[in-house]
Amino acid sequence: MSSGSLPPDGLRHPHHYLEPTGSMAASTIVIFGASGDLTSRKLIPALFRLDAAGQLPEDTQVVGVARRPYTSEEFRKLIEPKVQEAIKSMGVQWFAGTWNRFARRLHYVPGDAAQPEGAQALAEWFKKHEGEAGGNHLYYLSVAPELYSGIAQQLGDAGLTKETGGFRRLVVEKPFGHNLQSARVVNSSLLPYFKESQIYRIDHYLGKDTVQNILVFRLANTMFEPLWNRRYIDHVQITVAEKVPVGKRGGYYDTSGVLRDMFQSHILQVLTLVAMEPPSKITADRLRNEKVKVLDSIHVPSVEEARKCLVAGQYDGYLNEEGVPKTSRTPTYAALKLQVENWRWKGVPFYLRSGKALSNRYSEVVIQFRDPPFELFAQPGKLPPQANRVTMVLQPNEGIKLSFQTKVPEVEGSNLQSRDLSFDYKSAFGALPEAYERLLLDALQGDASLFMRGDEIERSWEVMDPFIAAAEAKDGPPLESYAVGSDGPACGDKLLANEGRKWNKIG
Ligand code: BG6
Repeated sequence: MSSGSLPPDGLRHPHHYLEPTGSMAASTIVIFGASGDLTSRKLIPALFRLDAAGQLPEDTQVVGVARRPYTSEEFRKLIEPKVQEAIKSMGVQWFAGTWNRFARRLHYVPGDAAQPEGAQALAEWFKKHEGEAGGNHLYYLSVAPELYSGIAQQLGDAGLTKETGGFRRLVVEKPFGHNLQSARVVNSSLLPYFKESQIYRIDHYLGKDTVQNILVFRLANTMFEPLWNRRYIDHVQITVAEKVPVGKRGGYYDTSGVLRDMFQSHILQVLTLVAMEPPSKITADRLRNEKVKVLDSIHVPSVEEARKCLVAGQYDGYLNEEGVPKTSRTPTYAALKLQVENWRWKGVPFYLRSGKALSNRYSEVVIQFRDPPFELFAQPGKLPPQANRVTMVLQPNEGIKLSFQTKVPEVEGSNLQSRDLSFDYKSAFGALPEAYERLLLDALQGDASLFMRGDEIERSWEVMDPFIAAAEAKDGPPLESYAVGSDGPACGDKLLANEGRKWNKIG
């Protein structure tokens, strides 16, 4: 496709600082759960945008699989307005011609893929469309986790996992288990049909450019890395705040809660990138080995210990959300402290917090450096200004801030104020790519760097399980309520105040 046919919609190429690998022969992306929300809100819009930007290889086809008996034409018609809505919500103009060209790649195979007939229908589609030559298959499980193993088994039994004629890869969405034990069961249920190297477990936070930039910021600049350790850093804060309440997802959310939904996955992934050692090369296994080492170094507390460094809350009105039992004790907010026990980080607390229905949608990493060893510029009666910190704003208003002390210009005295050096992504680079664009392209290209390995997932559960057990225990910490639109319950602030520290303001 010539770039001249691209719509002027501000699309840009993802920044591939990771080397792509793998064959780019004719590929088919099969989306199981094609009638679901994720497919129309994220996956198809991402593929559509890749296509519009000329980044989806010409011979790539997309097959939706779900139980409803649509034809391909009906499926295209049904999905178009939803994709259009998603594209417009990104502030990107909609071009019907661009959609029509993309839609020709879209197909639909009705059936229950966890049953032999479903996999058979798919096998027939491949036979008809790929012929003898075969091709690459990327299977995307956008279905309830209970169906993962059944679908993998049916694909295996139908001969669709054998790497003859092209690669066979399986992309799996979260939740990947409910705790360590169930994550092990899920992992081992896939392994008879797909090797670990064929499994791509998605954490969409890793698809965000700002999250990938954590490593670049640390390791492509010699200014920061020498200071990135216990000698100079006082503590680290990671906040993932959401303004949206649980909404229509009450049924799922209430069985999960914020510790499973956000901490075990996204927040621990961000933490590994902040804390890991430099890998010898940027390759999937070297990167993931270093991430696993960080997870391995996190002190796994007993439930009793976890209780002392965890606070949890629930927003007012949560119990009235659709699908939420009136007696639910599920936390929608939590804040906790982790210790990474290795040479680099021993003694540096990592404070993590996340919640729904908060004042703003705002995610950041704060690296708070130590105070100077000696207070030369004493400010009697005043709190020291908040400085000496690096703030990486992951979303929205993505950017990086360096806060430092400065002398207020005046002829008398030496008052200090904190000022920032700021870098703003959008003014520097324009719109950022959507996480799923990057991840789908990487999976097609066989680059697993931004996907989680089985051992990473299992270790993350091992770290979080005691906190989850502490939060769920009948005699666990009280669940403090907080107002919708606030910065969370007071216990969140107390967790840090007890240690003489303070959260950065949300937003
Ligand atoms: C998902 C969680 O993984 O991430 C949701 O299940 C949450 O509850 C979402 O809202 C947040 O993603 P983002 O990209 O909007 O920060």
